Amino acid sequence: METYRIIQDGDDYLLPVYNRQKIVLMRGEGVHVYDSERVVYLDFFSGIAVNGLGQAYPEVVNAIIEEAKKLGHVSNYYYNEPNVKLAKLLCEISFAQKVFFCNSGAEAVEASLKLARKYFRRQGQDRPEFISFHRSFHGRTFGALSATGQVKYQEGLEPLVPGFHFATFNNIESVKKLLNDRTAAVLVEAVQCEGGIHPADLKFLQELRTITREEGIFLILDEVQTGLGRTGKMWAYQHYDIEPDMMVSAKALGAGLPMGALLVTNQAAQGFKPGDHASTFGGNPIVSAAAVANIETLILKDLATHAAKEGEYLRNGLSALQKDFPQLFKEVRGMGLIQGIEMTRKAASLVSLCAKQGLLVGSANENVLRFLPPLIVTDGDIDQALGRLRKAVAEELKTA
Ligand SMILES: Cc1ncc(COP(=O)(O)O)c(C=O)c1O
Repeated sequence: METYRIIQDGDDYLLPVYNRQKIVLMRGEGVHVYDSERVVYLDFFSGIAVNGLGQAYPEVVNAIIEEAKKLGHVSNYYYNEPNVKLAKLLCEISFAQKVFFCNSGAEAVEASLKLARKYFRRQGQDRPEFISFHRSFHGRTFGALSATGQVKYQEGLEPLVPGFHFATFNNIESVKKLLNDRTAAVLVEAVQCEGGIHPADLKFLQELRTITREEGIFLILDEVQTGLGRTGKMWAYQHYDIEPDMMVSAKALGAGLPMGALLVTNQAAQGFKPGDHASTFGGNPIVSAAAVANIETLILKDLATHAAKEGEYLRNGLSALQKDFPQLFKEVRGMGLIQGIEMTRKAASLVSLCAKQGLLVGSANENVLRFLPPLIVTDGDIDQALGRLRKAVAEELKTA
């Protein structure tokens, strides 16, 4: 089908909840994606932090093909080998002792909130409430949306799920003011990503760990965007020398296939009994096989360390750009290969201009240009991306 026809049909038949670039992507290899006009792009967005290994990574492709030939889907009323292998692997590389699988970040957040409430109900305690943070993002289902500290996502959707209170990120006193004997858990991102790329302060997360432990309530870390090597360690919490009671993962987990997971301690796991929660597709053998191949590769190639190094390189390049164009860029923030550059204006136009230069990037919180390259990115790719970005900046400056 011709490009214009695909775009026209897309606009006719897809529910219009996204502002899409007028680009039809056809295939990808490593850090590159190709469109229907054979234009090649450097992909510094990775499908929103999903493609840690880039596109069409051979081990992942093979794992998907081999498992698809063997077993498609079986439900959770039976065991399947790749899924058990994945659960064990996730526990080996994290604090966790038990895992629940679902299909997305929002679902993993839902599972964590339900588990926290059930746990305390089982203990005979009335603790149905949660503390999360202003500027946070936890997903679009009603529970995850109610936990999200940004009104723009909630407007027109009320009534929300009751029981959520919002503290100020990186301000421990604001958490202490909200804590009470009805609080079940504190839900936090180590880096607020959708909120504009704001990393948590070291002391803040450590104190959050201390006070949640003192209160006997759960610390739930949302590592949907930060997990699996992206920040320069396997999990962002490892930068803070703390361990949560629960953690939610998704995005990069399934190496491009949909998968979410809730990882918990044995103690937290006591909250759920058979029948309390479920997901038809959760832990599907094909997705699990892809996730195992993905994580084994991350470990074998030590891509977290690589992400730390390349993140530094990217950050230096962005800082130089910020110094050269202070009228356009205010601040560079990030951790590893999540980097953002706050602009003095909305980022949407520069995102489009970057695409015209053959560079895919995203935005966060409207005025932050967001970079999420695959973890396999090299210095050479980053040099090329920065060159294209500078050309886009030159165009952007002509527009105002
Ligand atoms: C931190 C965080 N939590 C949860 C979600 C929701 O994930 P999903 O879109 O897979 O439901 C996102 C998505 O951007 C996220 O960044």
